Parts: sequence; structure tokens; C-alpha cells
Amino acid sequence: MATAQLSTISPQAPASGRANTWQGAGAAEFDLRSDTMTKPTPSMLDAICQTTLLDDVFNEDPTTNELQSYVAQRTKHEDGLLVLSGTMGNQVAIRTHLTQPPHSVLCDHRSHIICYEAGGVSAWTGATVQTVVPKNGIHLTLEDIQKHAVLDDNIHYCPTKLISLENTLDGMIMPLTESRRIVEWAHANDIKVHLDGARLWEAVVSGAGSLEEYTSLFDSVSLCFSKGLGAPMGSIIVGSQVFIKKARWFRKSIGGGARQTGIYAAAARVALDETFGKDPNGKTGLLPATHAKAKQVAQMWTGRGGKLQYPVHTNMVWLNLEASGVGPNDLAVIGQDKGLRLLGGRVVVHYQVSDEAITRLGEVFDIAMKGDFQRSNDQSRPYGSSKP
Ligand SMILES: Cc1ncc(COP(=O)(O)O)c(C=O)c1O
Repeated sequence: MATAQLSTISPQAPASGRANTWQGAGAAEFDLRSDTMTKPTPSMLDAICQTTLLDDVFNEDPTTNELQSYVAQRTKHEDGLLVLSGTMGNQVAIRTHLTQPPHSVLCDHRSHIICYEAGGVSAWTGATVQTVVPKNGIHLTLEDIQKHAVLDDNIHYCPTKLISLENTLDGMIMPLTESRRIVEWAHANDIKVHLDGARLWEAVVSGAGSLEEYTSLFDSVSLCFSKGLGAPMGSIIVGSQVFIKKARWFRKSIGGGARQTGIYAAAARVALDETFGKDPNGKTGLLPATHAKAKQVAQMWTGRGGKLQYPVHTNMVWLNLEASGVGPNDLAVIGQDKGLRLLGGRVVVHYQVSDEAITRLGEVFDIAMKGDFQRSNDQSRPYGSSKP
């Protein structure tokens, strides 16, 4: 299609005359499996239509470069690097921090980097991973970490060179004060700290601390545009200039050097400014309403006698199905009849989930909790129980 024609395409009036599939929330409205299940918006399409289309392997694309500087500035870091996914952001950052064995990475035993990234940490870095169970069941504390970190040079052990924290983790917040204690102690002991901040936006919106208060603490942070923010793809790593320069190298080595990245950089910028908001606390964006809905879901569940697995801090509700006498796949199966997509006992509210979806969820809870549904005996992992 000629360039002149492209500039005439608007999300409202597609040149083809066919229905524009970018309008409305579509299937996302009734999809509570994850906040990755959002649908990109007409304003993202508009930004994509206006974007620059130069080569990012050559660092030449203005939209991508502006996004990287903008996020670096908003997070109080020197530089940023756009990557294809949250997994790529974590893996590239972790690889960039490390040199060679013997070295180990310490993290919460439920961390995405160790449970859901295909074994990448050990494959790419040769590091031993020290997983730690937080004593409070919610987030790691400095005391948890001190108990497990290896600081000495006894040749039987594997020195801790990196701590990787996650915030939010399973929707739960690591408080700012605890993050600060951990980072200060780590730095005093020559240990780097990476933050998997795929959903840091949610912690910020809940009032736990501003974006820059959190991000400026860490040596590197990865942030996702395609979780609650609703972009079709893309994550970013922020860190020092030296760190990002080296990270660019590792990104290339795993095939993450992409060409006309302006296409997804443009949508990511809209997601950041519209869904999170332009203010440091995300109060002007669309996320606070999702937290209110998540609390409503938790009340709907406990009000029917259901038990929760975790407290609800942000946009995720973890239902304890077993303790509530509900089979692992029951909600998903009942939900199908109501036109809802559900997954195991985790309900995730994103900004396109409608009030109607929450009403239908109440009907699903009614059926599951009143015992009208023949509880399935299948105790295996719920269908598709990955944790996107
Ligand atoms: C905390 C966390 N970090 C990283 C990722 C990886 O993101 P992606 O699916 O874009 O690779 C996810 C995915 O949901 C996540 O929940």
C-alpha cells in the first residue's frame, strides 16, 4: 500500500470499508484469566499509523528511541531498552548482570524468572538459583535473604551475585521500605539487584510508592507494556548507560534485535500514558478501577463462604479452591456456560473487564459454592495453568 494511502487510514473509518476489529473490548471483556488478555485500542492503532518505521538494530527509529528515553526519565534511570517480552527483559537483564560461574541468583521461590521462563536463568548464565520461601508468605524480607545469601568465599558454596525481586508477585506488593532495605544491604555486599517489574504499575497504583521511588532503587528493572497496560506486545529494561549498552548485545544474541520496532513502541507509549497515566502514581489512568473490581470479586467469593489463598493487594484475586470445596477446573467449566474465560483459582481483573463480566462471575460463584455443580475429580493442574 502506498504511503499516501496509509496516512488516510483512521481507526474509525478503515479504508477497506470492512468492520474495524480494533473497536471495543471484544473477547477481552469477559476474559479473566490474565491481564495479558487485553485488546489493543483504536488509539494504539492511531499511534501505529503515525509511527516511524526505521531500523532499531541500527538504533535509528525515533519512536523507539523516544520511548526508551521517556521511560528512562520517568524511572530515573540513564537508559532504556525495548524488548519483545517480559521474559526477554528478565533474561537479558539477568545475563547482563552476571559474568561467569561460580555465581548464583537469589529469588522468591514463586518468581516468574524461575518458575515460568523455561529454565532460562541457568541456561543463559550457568548460575545456580537459590530460591527462598518468604517467612511471611507474601514477600521476601531482608532477613529471609540474609539467611540464604552466600557472601563468603568458602569453595563449597556458590556466591550470590544477583538478587532478583518481583513486584507485584502473584498480585501482592513488596513494600517500598522492604525493597529499600534489601537493595541497600545487597549493594553494601557487592550484590546487584534486578526487579521483575512486569506489574510494578499495579503496586504503584495501589499507593505503595511512586514509579520512580521504586525503580530508582534497583540496578535494573524490567517493565511490561502488555500486561495490565494493554499494549499488544513489548517490555522495557531500564538501567545505567553501560548496562543497557551491554544488554543490547545480549538482546541481539538471542534474536531480540528487531527492525521496525516503531510499530510496537508507538502502542506501548499509548498504553503507558493512557492506561497507567502520565503522573508518577498512576492515579489519572485506568488501573485504580481494576483494583476496586478485584476487591469486589474477593468479597463476592468470601461472602459465599469461599476462602482466599492470598490477600488482594492489586488486580489479582487468588481463590483457594481446595479449601472452599471447589474442584480445580470447576470455575473454568461453569464459566464457559456464562461466556466467561476463567483459569483455575486465579481471577485477574484488567481494565477492559466489564461490570457485566463481574455480574456473571457472581453467577459462576453461586453455582460452584451451592454445590449445584458436580465437582470434578480432576486434581491435575488446571487446563492451561501457565501464569502469564
Ligand atoms: C511477573 C512476570 N514477569 C515476567 C513475565 C513474562 O512476560 P512475557 O509473557 O511477556 O514474557 C510475566 C508474564 O506474565 C510475569 O507475570
